[in-house]
Amino acid sequence: ASAAAPGTAPLAAPAAAPAISKEVTVLFGSQSGKAQGLAKKVSKKLEDNGFQVALSSMSDFKPNGLKKVQNLLVVVSTHGEGEPPDNAISFHEFLNSKRAPKLEDTRFSVLALGDTSYELFCQTGKDFDIRLEELGGKRIVPRMDCDVDFDDAAAEWMNQVLASLSAASSAAAPAGGATAAAPSGEESEFSRTNPFQAEVLENLNLNGRGSDRETRHVEISLEGSNLQYEPGDCLGIYPENHPRLVEEIIEAMGWNAEESVTINKNGEKSSLRDALLRNFEITLLTKPLMEQVAKLSSNERLQELVGPGREQDLKSYIHGRDLLDLVQDFSLKGIPAGDFVAVLRKLPARLYSIASSNKAFPDEVHVTVRAVRYENLGRERYGVCSVQLAERIKAGDTLPVYIQNNPNFKLPENPDTPIIMIGPGTGVAPFRAFLGEREELGAEGKTWLFYGDQHFSTDFLYQIEWQKWLKDGVLTRMDVAFSRDTDQKVYVQHRMLEKSAELYKWLQEGASVYVCGDEKKMAHDVHHTLAKIIEQEGGFSPEEAAEYLSRMQHQKRYQRDVY
Ligand code: 2AM
Repeated sequence: ASAAAPGTAPLAAPAAAPAISKEVTVLFGSQSGKAQGLAKKVSKKLEDNGFQVALSSMSDFKPNGLKKVQNLLVVVSTHGEGEPPDNAISFHEFLNSKRAPKLEDTRFSVLALGDTSYELFCQTGKDFDIRLEELGGKRIVPRMDCDVDFDDAAAEWMNQVLASLSAASSAAAPAGGATAAAPSGEESEFSRTNPFQAEVLENLNLNGRGSDRETRHVEISLEGSNLQYEPGDCLGIYPENHPRLVEEIIEAMGWNAEESVTINKNGEKSSLRDALLRNFEITLLTKPLMEQVAKLSSNERLQELVGPGREQDLKSYIHGRDLLDLVQDFSLKGIPAGDFVAVLRKLPARLYSIASSNKAFPDEVHVTVRAVRYENLGRERYGVCSVQLAERIKAGDTLPVYIQNNPNFKLPENPDTPIIMIGPGTGVAPFRAFLGEREELGAEGKTWLFYGDQHFSTDFLYQIEWQKWLKDGVLTRMDVAFSRDTDQKVYVQHRMLEKSAELYKWLQEGASVYVCGDEKKMAHDVHHTLAKIIEQEGGFSPEEAAEYLSRMQHQKRYQRDVY
């Protein structure tokens, strides 16, 4: 008499949505390390609140494990023209292929990093968000798209994710609210949001007289900051805008430079002049900025330009123009300074690949910065930070700086592993750090540097140092390509091709390959040259060579720091 009669249900617990798992997988795709830093942060926050978190780079994640993931967080940046960062490429491909599994039991949310000055803003994050939904996933909270100044938006997304996951899993915060563990004694209090005021020790032009280039070697003291770095990391510098550009904008608008304006969400104030120098971006225009300025103004031409059907005109207008162009082209006089600055983006820090080894220079950091100057629309245009360093910063001045770790550009763990470094122009900077580090470590691994620039006599950055390292054996081989000393241009990839047999031999011996510098032209061509060398020397098909390179990327034996 124990069997339930037909139609009578056994006693059940009160109907309630089943509590979801407390396991969360956090996947990141990151080029410069920012997305990775945020992925770490959200992982820590969830762990502090009783969740079990598996944090992983997309390139380390085994995609056949995806089906089992119940809670998935994706933190990913967008690179170049809407492309995924290197360590997201294969996962992005997998997810968009037929092999991707159905994800009906998966809950997900995407945190997307990007820059509104690019047309395909946060494209990679959008790709993941759309595709995860197509595969059947349900959103934990909506995707958050972040502009360059990502802190507030990222923090908000994290809070929403935590609240939603906590509610769904009824995961109570651990007793005592064990949040915010005390920072370890090693860690510095200084960061992107709290930069260190660092003293400049030295500021030299590395180019010889008569060069088209001006490349500054800047040595900066980190004494007293507790800041440390590894080869491959970047230095963030908060720059100041050019004082002349600031004055010209103020004049064109008929503003008073001494007027007090609000500079941040906390309501802090400063003079308009200082605000435009230090706090706001004035050298480029974005679509959201144009739309907001149009709202502040009664200029019909401007309102039409941001209106429907004019997308292409707006795109070509903002390209290469700055705030001075905008206020001159559309007679915007009359807009109060306070309203105007309220719609400007925060002036972001500039990142430079560090050119020194911390072991060789304790308490110092060196960067290699090429001054960006060009003419456009009848006016000289200046790179904000690079020209400030070239023209207005001397030894004894201070700069607000922080260290941006870049886990995706790191020396092999084993100091015996051979390395091949390709870095024309300022792309050579991190390799000065790599070799300095290997020298300090007494590393045995072979090293090979490909360097290039316009002219041997004026543009051979750090020539004496490479020569010393060649003599000491820290640098095993060096090949140079000076593009404008001969009739025919020679580039680093031409030198690589000339040495293809030897280069392939190094690859077969397990060498790691590092590429730093210009992305669109150089790194792209170098990539194809590597593929060609592998094809030719290994007797592979183009597909097999591509596979060889993507395997190297997976094994972290092919890393790029490109911009
Ligand atoms: P160029 O200016 O004479 O064309 C550093 O800027 C060096 O990189 C310069 O010698 C520059 O040459 C060269 N360079 C320009 N385009 C390149 C490319 N596609 N591949 C490799 N090097 C390139």
